[in-house]
Amino acid sequence: MAGLYIHIPFCKRKCHYCNFYSLAKAKFKPELVQALVKEMELQRNYLHGEKLESIYFGGGTPSMLNEHELQFIFEKIYTAFNVEEKAEITFEANPDDLSKDYLQMLKKSPVNRLSIGVQSFNDEELVYLNRLHSAEEAISALKRAQDVGFSSLSLDLIYGIPIATNESWLKNLNQFKELQVDHLSAYNLTREENTAYDLFIKKGKYAPPNDVQGQEHFNLLLDFTRENKLEQYEVSNFAFDQKYAIHNTNYWHRKKYLGIGPSAHSFDLLSRSWNIAQLKPYIDSINNELVPHETELLNKSDKWNETIMTGLRTKWGVEIEYLKQNFEADWLDTFNQQAQKYIQNKQLLKSETHFQLSKNGLFFADGIAADFFRVNE
Ligand SMILES: C[S@@+](CC[C@H](N)C(=O)[O-])C[C@H]1O[C@@H](n2cnc3c(N)ncnc32)[C@H](O)[C@@H]1O
Ligand code: SF4
Repeated sequence: MAGLYIHIPFCKRKCHYCNFYSLAKAKFKPELVQALVKEMELQRNYLHGEKLESIYFGGGTPSMLNEHELQFIFEKIYTAFNVEEKAEITFEANPDDLSKDYLQMLKKSPVNRLSIGVQSFNDEELVYLNRLHSAEEAISALKRAQDVGFSSLSLDLIYGIPIATNESWLKNLNQFKELQVDHLSAYNLTREENTAYDLFIKKGKYAPPNDVQGQEHFNLLLDFTRENKLEQYEVSNFAFDQKYAIHNTNYWHRKKYLGIGPSAHSFDLLSRSWNIAQLKPYIDSINNELVPHETELLNKSDKWNETIMTGLRTKWGVEIEYLKQNFEADWLDTFNQQAQKYIQNKQLLKSETHFQLSKNGLFFADGIAADFFRVNE
């Protein structure tokens, strides 16, 4: 089983914090759609006929696609690939695009899951982030999505916003609860290069993210989700009743996926590839029947690092037997030695079968995982 990712590199306006590849105008949209379809044709053998268990439209803003464009893309997906009947088909959407008509169109399409970027239910925070919608608009878009019949919904929220307070963050979480959505992605605000947020920090206009605040919000998030039986299955992802996002979970379980579009990444177990993150050169190259990409063959230490990183970030943890079967014995010995300090300060838990991060360790997952990395072996 494999996944398919399609990148839509347009946004109506860039949010201050975001450095995902997207342009704040939809110039060349028809050409891009043609190129996406053509790239699928060029890449149809990448997955060696493996069935698609998930399809994910990400961005940028997929909800800037119109009905015809989406239909055209789906026609190609279903002819070029073998899509499982019950495949999870997720579509990232911005609240300001979700009119009743647009939602009805999506409902008639094969899309069966929406991931809606709300970020905050606080208007001041939304302005600070440069979002195009108000809190009220996000709430009504969500209710419309439910009315139209989308039962599989996910919301994105951001915590650790410098102007947010513990109180406003808790209010956001309670608003999420009221909406009865079964999945939440909650991200700690990060400072990314080449963003307006980064520039504003350099100019002293905005405060940088503060780890103490981020950790406080994270702890509030964990308390809230535990009290409400919302299961944390990855550092930033929470689900009711095991409604895990299949597409993202497969990334963490290191299954194959093909990424289509500028900046999209692919993984075939042996190597990782990424397409050029430039719209016009991408389109021109595809029109010349060349997928403009770079590829990196994974060596053993890359595989080890990915296994440790994804394992520690998820509720499944790192399986000791898997490390024994797939890596040198002395790598596991070193891991065990390095793990002691994290076990002693209660950030890492070791059972008979697994290593897992504790509540205290999860906030530092990436830093802790990096401590176990190996280089060029
Ligand atoms: C690629 S974006 C696409 C979502 C969609 N375009 C929207 O804005 O609604 C996916 C999510 O990543 C998160 N994100 C992007 N940049 C971030 C940052 N610097 N810090 C924290 N979260 C971020 C946001 O929550 C966003 O909804
Ligand atoms: S968060 Fe979404 S809408 Fe905002 S710039 Fe990033 S991709 Fe575009």
